[in-house]
Amino acid sequence: MDKALLSKTAAAMVAHGKGILAADESSGTCETRFKTVNVECTEENRRTYRGLLFGTPGVEQFVSGVILFDETLRQKADDGTPFPQYLAKKGIIPGIKVDKGLVDIPFSQGEKVTEGLDGLSKRLAEYFQLGARFAKWRAVLTIGEAIPSHTCLYANAHALARYAAACQVASIVPMIEPEVLLTGNHTVERCEEVTEAGLRATYAAMAAHNVSLEHVILKTSMVVSGKDCPRQAGVDEVAERTMRVLKRTVPAALPGVVFLSGGQSDVAATAHLNAMAAMKNLPWPLTFSYSRALQNPALAAWRGQAANVGAAQAAFHHRARMNGLASQGKWKDALEKQAA
Ligand code: 13P
Repeated sequence: MDKALLSKTAAAMVAHGKGILAADESSGTCETRFKTVNVECTEENRRTYRGLLFGTPGVEQFVSGVILFDETLRQKADDGTPFPQYLAKKGIIPGIKVDKGLVDIPFSQGEKVTEGLDGLSKRLAEYFQLGARFAKWRAVLTIGEAIPSHTCLYANAHALARYAAACQVASIVPMIEPEVLLTGNHTVERCEEVTEAGLRATYAAMAAHNVSLEHVILKTSMVVSGKDCPRQAGVDEVAERTMRVLKRTVPAALPGVVFLSGGQSDVAATAHLNAMAAMKNLPWPLTFSYSRALQNPALAAWRGQAANVGAAQAAFHHRARMNGLASQGKWKDALEKQAA
């Protein structure tokens, strides 16, 4: 465990004005995204698309790190450089999704737990050799009438803590992601309650597994109304509720907190981050770690056509710049209208 390296990596991940691109969609998720723009989900198309994002000129001003999928970590850019080294050369830290996805929790109402602990230490050692310096593990909490259950909260917290400890031993910064899903008609109050319960369970497990809090990044969902809830909380309410929960549950020792976009619109994800980052006296730097909210406009512009690469890169650059500003509380709606 190289503590100096862990500290350096964690600080760079949340460097001022920068955030993280989540490009770690599994091949299945990638297929869903590609279908929306009629692109066949082949290995080569996935490589081309990721290469387009990573090769966007100047995006390193706003992007500190990229979360890769196993396949991408082993692929090469058009110039023959393996993606991790290609990114590192631009000053972008390569990260890796190490969980193996979700399975049903037996005897539950369709709740999920994340798999991937078996053999993890070995995989982490290889990922470090390949250039990865941080990792991601996503746990999912679904809101329903009587869920998330105690079983679900603790099974996921336990897995997150075991994963985090294994990462630190391998000198890889763990990004822990307990995501409360946006789907459903729950109220924002209920989302606040569940987010708090999820984070409490997560940090209790971190303590039980001796995870070094100075060397772990939290990736959290925001406290928002369920997608189908008739009352949608506004930007200021989302920011206030999210920060209240985080201050109650997340130790100040953490080097930083990043957010997922979770199906929010591109601009909503930016506006919410901006409202939180503009608050005074926060215990941690806040920034983005978005997939959809960073990539959607780029994917829509690309549509699998080489002729559209420039337009797709401009769209990606714009969203990265907007979110870079939002991470400093300096974003304004009017900026959305300006060309990238
Ligand atoms: P979204 O921003 O699309 O929610 O993706 C972030 C992520 O990494 C989910 O695990």
